[in-house]
Amino acid sequence: MNKLAVIGAGYVGLVTGICLASCGHEVTCMDIDECKIDQLKAGRLPLFEPGLQELHDTNTATGRLSFTTNPEKAVQHAEGVFIAVGTPPRKDGGADLSYIHNAIQSIAPFLQKDSVIIMKSTVPVGTHADVKKLLDRTAGHPVRLVSNPEFLREGSAVNDFFYSDRIVIGSNDPSPASFVEQLYHSIPSPVIHTDPQTAEMIKYSSNAFLAAKISFINEMAALCEAEGADISMVAAGMGMDKRIGEHFLKAGIGYGGSCFPKDTTALLYSAAQQNITVPLLSSIHEVNRRQPRVFIKKVLDRFGSIEGKKAAVLGLTFKPNTDDLRRSPSREIINLLVEEGAMVTGYDPVVSVSGKRVWQIPLAQTMEEALTGADLAVICTEWKEIIDFPLHCYPLYMKEANIFDGRNCYPVSQARGLPLFYSSVGRPVYKGI
Ligand code: UGA
Repeated sequence: MNKLAVIGAGYVGLVTGICLASCGHEVTCMDIDECKIDQLKAGRLPLFEPGLQELHDTNTATGRLSFTTNPEKAVQHAEGVFIAVGTPPRKDGGADLSYIHNAIQSIAPFLQKDSVIIMKSTVPVGTHADVKKLLDRTAGHPVRLVSNPEFLREGSAVNDFFYSDRIVIGSNDPSPASFVEQLYHSIPSPVIHTDPQTAEMIKYSSNAFLAAKISFINEMAALCEAEGADISMVAAGMGMDKRIGEHFLKAGIGYGGSCFPKDTTALLYSAAQQNITVPLLSSIHEVNRRQPRVFIKKVLDRFGSIEGKKAAVLGLTFKPNTDDLRRSPSREIINLLVEEGAMVTGYDPVVSVSGKRVWQIPLAQTMEEALTGADLAVICTEWKEIIDFPLHCYPLYMKEANIFDGRNCYPVSQARGLPLFYSSVGRPVYKGI
């Protein structure tokens, strides 16, 4: 058991802190947001992540997990301090490191001499050296810093923590590196030791490669539509080749969230800084940027004009099993529909329930309510509730059942014989009306 602190109680920080407490460590999570910390102390998570609330409850009950806004309290006894604050994109595409700098400055004066600082936040390659200088200067003594990027997916972050494909530890010094390795001793994942800049690069390259798979399959989907092929079967056939792999080949309206869009642009920015041309990386980003517009063109091709038409947008979050709306492609879809004059109502199994009003559109409380009287439905997120909603029920509620499925939630064969129009991504269109 080790005494640990986690600075930043966002997705990454909370999942890391709570899961490390579950591994038996004594963890203090710190955040500057008093509301968030009050909420956590009162036992409520400020975000929706399957399985996390239960682990939070168990670990606070045992006393292994606590929360504070006080940097001194958080780190004064900590042997290891994880930095897990955000690195949002700046206007020029580079990563904004101000939260990292503020976090370091607030904790450095209170650090134990032999504590290890562990960088979880996604930071541009080369950041390690700058952060180390800042740490040493503010602490007034040399501080041991290790890069330990995260590979958690929102919606399955708890599972990803305990069954990680790999644990990456980047350090030039074997002693703090082995300290970090033993923190994860109860997790049966392979560990790879590298220098810090390689660890930082593994994180960016992994996200860029996953984003590449998505943009690639979306481009193939456009070709499938032109040739009458079915992208789901193409992806299944490709994925059976172990060198390709079956994951991240789901065609759709593009990737969103707080990671892929930000990390691919940050990598593009770094490349520009280094005067290196990266045409592949630029294309991954460009294909994704176009994807919502390409999808809405199908709506316009069907209707000519959607001025005054009632549209139900189903699913608002950037993926299922999260309440995260950041950089969700559904936002661009809604903007385009509104721009074309449609009257849009949104529905999302988690966002609607929380009563939030998003992006200036009204939210329905149920899927049926959103569909009632609609001329068209656009599916933006493959929530289970949406997948489980039978296709034959759409005509029961809609004025005219024009369904545009941006996440391929239903097999096209299910539409056969039904009084509806069903258009998805990279698969044949079914015209039952
Ligand atoms: C991503 C990575 O998958 C994690 O490994 C990484 O740790 C994380 O970013 C991060 O850098 O913090 P996340 O953004 O939570 O995780 O979600 P993903 O499951 O990767 O999905 C990202 C987007 O890609 C979603 O909008 C999803 O709908 C889309 N996607 C994913 C597709 O369009 N097709 C696919 O086949 C897979």
